[in-house]
Amino acid sequence: MTNAHVSLQDFRHRLRRHLLGGIPGGPDGGGAPWLDGLVMEYLPSGNVLRITFPHIYFARWFNEQESLDEAFSDYATNAIRVNWIFATFDCSAFFIMNIAEVAILWLGGNRVGAHAMEIASISACVEYAMMILFFIMMAQIGALMLPRALVCIERCREVIEHAPSIADGELGSLPERASTAPADTGDAPAREALGEVVAHFGNASFRFADADEDTLHHINFLCRRGTTTAIIGPTGSGKSTIAKLLLRFHDATDGSVSLCGTDVRELTQHALREHISYVPQKAWLFSGTIADNLRYGAPDATDEELWHAIDVAQSGFVRELPEGLGHRVAQGGTNFSGGQRQRLSIARALVKKADLYIFDDSFSALDFKTDAALRHALAEEVADAAVLIIAQRINTILSADQIVVLKDGCIQGLGTHEELMRTCEAYREIARSQLRAEELEALMEDSAAKGGERK
Ligand SMILES: Nc1ncnc2c1ncn2[C@@H]1O[C@H](COP(=O)(O)OP(=O)(O)O)[C@@H](O)[C@H]1O
Ligand SMILES: [Mg+2]
Repeated sequence: MTNAHVSLQDFRHRLRRHLLGGIPGGPDGGGAPWLDGLVMEYLPSGNVLRITFPHIYFARWFNEQESLDEAFSDYATNAIRVNWIFATFDCSAFFIMNIAEVAILWLGGNRVGAHAMEIASISACVEYAMMILFFIMMAQIGALMLPRALVCIERCREVIEHAPSIADGELGSLPERASTAPADTGDAPAREALGEVVAHFGNASFRFADADEDTLHHINFLCRRGTTTAIIGPTGSGKSTIAKLLLRFHDATDGSVSLCGTDVRELTQHALREHISYVPQKAWLFSGTIADNLRYGAPDATDEELWHAIDVAQSGFVRELPEGLGHRVAQGGTNFSGGQRQRLSIARALVKKADLYIFDDSFSALDFKTDAALRHALAEEVADAAVLIIAQRINTILSADQIVVLKDGCIQGLGTHEELMRTCEAYREIARSQLRAEELEALMEDSAAKGGERK
């Protein structure tokens, strides 16, 4: 029996089950708000519908209209059935009320005719009967709504009582330190020459709560002030997760992650994030104006600062907009192209002054020329901070001071481009897959020459 051809008896049974048993932890482990649950349960492709409403273009691209037609007509059939039950219930209730009124008038009329009753008493009887029936009806509606209300209360309680997995540390600001370089990085002058350590991963491993194995394994590297660190690796290798550990969206399950010498778990999340400016992988803009978006991390920034960030982020297109900084941004920035959104979110990150700038795959939608110009301007702009660039394209990270090659959550190589070309097979593989033969040959010769010079 398909869901579209459910018998009325089965429907009634399910209705009762939803009304009486739809409470989480109840006999059938239900929990669907009853009407939604009822309708969705009757829908063979309930999930398809839920997914497809916001992504209707996907359905068109994949020519899924026919299967959706079926889902939509099933949905319509079931919605009509549910409304039919409500309509029957309403009609029956009013029918009973009217029958009661007629019965009172009929019986009362006879008694008035026999001089056994006053006419006023009939009116009073009708009034009382209507009031009683009306409140019985209300009680029935209340009984129908009760399971839904209980489910809602339960859900609200779950949300309110849900303990966040990230607990704030004690420190409201970074402690003053003479030197934040870890002790094992050499003697004091060497440490000074290398620069202050802004971010430090100390043998950090991480596993998602619902995963069977670690996503990151024994991550060790430093990001120093004034230098650029790049992370490159295939999709799903854990690059974004590294950025999220620094921002404390997740906590390392083993090892430590520290910012300017302080373990990120000791700081309040607010204090930690004040020192970091982040461009997420998915460039998201909020509805409002361009200026509102750029001031998100620095509400007091002046217009000059905004224009400067726009220039560094190669967002010259803003200057061509008639309203300039006041140009409206639709929710999600959908009135801009992917590349424009990326550049605006880079500008937004630059407006906020920070010790560490993280760019998570933020150059991927840019053409090569804009990518190069942006990185050049960026190098001067954030010269006093540490920069962490996550990238897929090898061209984006060629000039980084150190490159972390990540694969399946493990560091496969760490060094400059030349060093990695000589020593890291995983890096060479990425280079081979992305660069033309001549480019690759030139780079190999270049790194061999630099290697020879060093020796
Ligand atoms: N919230 C999550 N729960 C479980 N696994 C996740 C979650 N987010 C990401 N992952 C997994 O962690 C791995 C690394 O993801 P991610 O850091 O986003 O990779 P990358 O940025 O290198 O493409 C992937 O295999 C992904 O499936
Ligand atoms: Mg990513």
